[in-house]
Formats: sequence, C-alpha cells, structure tokens
Amino acid sequence: MTLFTLAIMLPTMCFGPVYGGAMRRLQKDISDGKAAASSLAEEAFSNVRTVKAFATEDRECAGYAEKNDHVFAKAREAALCYGFFQFVMQFVMFGSLDALVYFAAYLNSENELTIGEFTSFQFYMFSFLLNFMLMASVVGEVLGVFGTAAAIAEIFLYKSRVNTTGGVPVSAETAEVGTLTLSSLEFKYPTKQDIQVLNSVSIKVEKNKTIALVGTSGCGKSTIIQLVERFYDPDAGKV
Ligand SMILES: Nc1ncnc2c1ncn2[C@@H]1O[C@H](COP(=O)(O)OP(=O)(O)OP(=O)(O)O)[C@@H](O)[C@H]1O
Ligand SMILES: [Mg+2]
Repeated sequence: MTLFTLAIMLPTMCFGPVYGGAMRRLQKDISDGKAAASSLAEEAFSNVRTVKAFATEDRECAGYAEKNDHVFAKAREAALCYGFFQFVMQFVMFGSLDALVYFAAYLNSENELTIGEFTSFQFYMFSFLLNFMLMASVVGEVLGVFGTAAAIAEIFLYKSRVNTTGGVPVSAETAEVGTLTLSSLEFKYPTKQDIQVLNSVSIKVEKNKTIALVGTSGCGKSTIIQLVERFYDPDAGKV
C-alpha cells in the first residue's frame, strides 16, 4: 500500500517544480510591469505642467492603463496557475485516499488486511499527504518570492553609468578659464531608447557670459542642462 501511495504521489512531485518555475516567471513579470507603470506615472507627474499645457492627460492615462492592464493580466495568470495547482494537489490527495480505500477493501476481502491495520495506515498516510501538500505549496510560494527577489537583486546589482565618487577633479586652470564647451552631443534617455533627444549639439559658453537656450517644448533644453550637471553622460560627444 505504501508503494501504491508513492506511485500516486510521484507524478505530483514532478509537477511542483514546474509550478514553482511558472510562478517565479510570473512574479518577475508582475514586478517589472509595476515598475514600468510607476516610472511612466512618475515621468508624467514630474512634468505635469507640460502634460497640462499640451492637454495630453488622456494619452498619459491611456499609457498608464495599458501598463496596468499588463500587470493585471499577469496577476490573473498567476491566480489561475495557483488555482490549477491547488486543484491538482487536492484532487490527487483525496483521489489517492479514495483509491486506497478501494484497494484496501479488495485486500480485506482477500483476508490480507484487517480493518484495524488499514485504519492505522490511513492515519499515517493522511499525515504524510497533508504535510506533503503543504510543503509543495510552500515551495511554490518560495519560488514565487525568488521571482520578485530577482527584480530587487537587479536594482542592487545595477552599476550606475555615471560614477558618483572618484574621477578627475576640475583643475584650477580649467576653472580659471571657465569656458563651458559642449561638443557634438548625442543623447537618448536610458528609459526611452527610441527617441534621439540630442543630435550633434555643440555649444560654447565663455566665462561670465549669459546665454539663452530657445526652442520648442521637448526639443531638449532641460536635457542639455542635465548633461551639464552630469545627471547623465552623453552617448557621444563631450561636456
Ligand atoms: N526623464 C526622462 N526620461 C525619458 N524621456 C525624457 C525625460 N525627460 C525628458 N524626456 C524626453 O526628452 C525630450 C526632451 O525633453 P526636455 O525636457 O529636455 O525638453 P525641453 O526642451 O526642456 O522642453 P520644455 O520647453 O517643455 O521644458 C522630450 O521628448 C521628453 O519627453
Ligand atoms: Mg524644460
């Protein structure tokens, strides 16, 4: 009867890692989706005047809704996956109990097993199955956490392209001359690689001169200032 129980449980044991792998992938997708939605919202809120001025509220909302829907779809997939896993586990557990009762009845009719022996076996088996089921669902949860942990680890392991310590300090002579030169700057925002914000921009500002950057909204004026402040490094060219 022990072999009979194991024969039923073994295929389920193989199902656990498959479920865990799927949950890990889904949790990672959900974390990435939430991060993408948050960064889109943050960009819109931090430039809310521009959004209002160009009446693009609906477009921004639609963009956010799309990202949010993606998270919802992935969360629903995860819920379905969890539901299916629980269904299989419950089915196997109670199904195997039924099958065992049937098998025990057969052995009893053949006088190979007493009711007392079967009752004690069933008691032990039930404890075993219950704990096995709990363990399998805990393994699934733990693997799901690994998916989220992978997203967090990516942030911890991220190496900034602009180093905030070290480097070469501005020499006294350069500071004395005080000329700010931007030569052939090329730049795209890391989060928006499809838009070339600056294309071969060169500007020279002599010491104590005041200049104005003039251009249509979104042409890249603030971006130039951010490159001067070294919030980003240019893709090509030099500040
Ligand atoms: N943090 C950011 N991440 C991604 N894209 C950005 C970011 N900030 C600006 N952009 C994009 O870069 C382009 C240039 O923006 P920038 O803010 O430099 O324009 P601007 O000339 O200062 O506009 P405005 O006159 O409205 O202030 C725009 O297409 C804008 O959507
Ligand atoms: Mg600006």
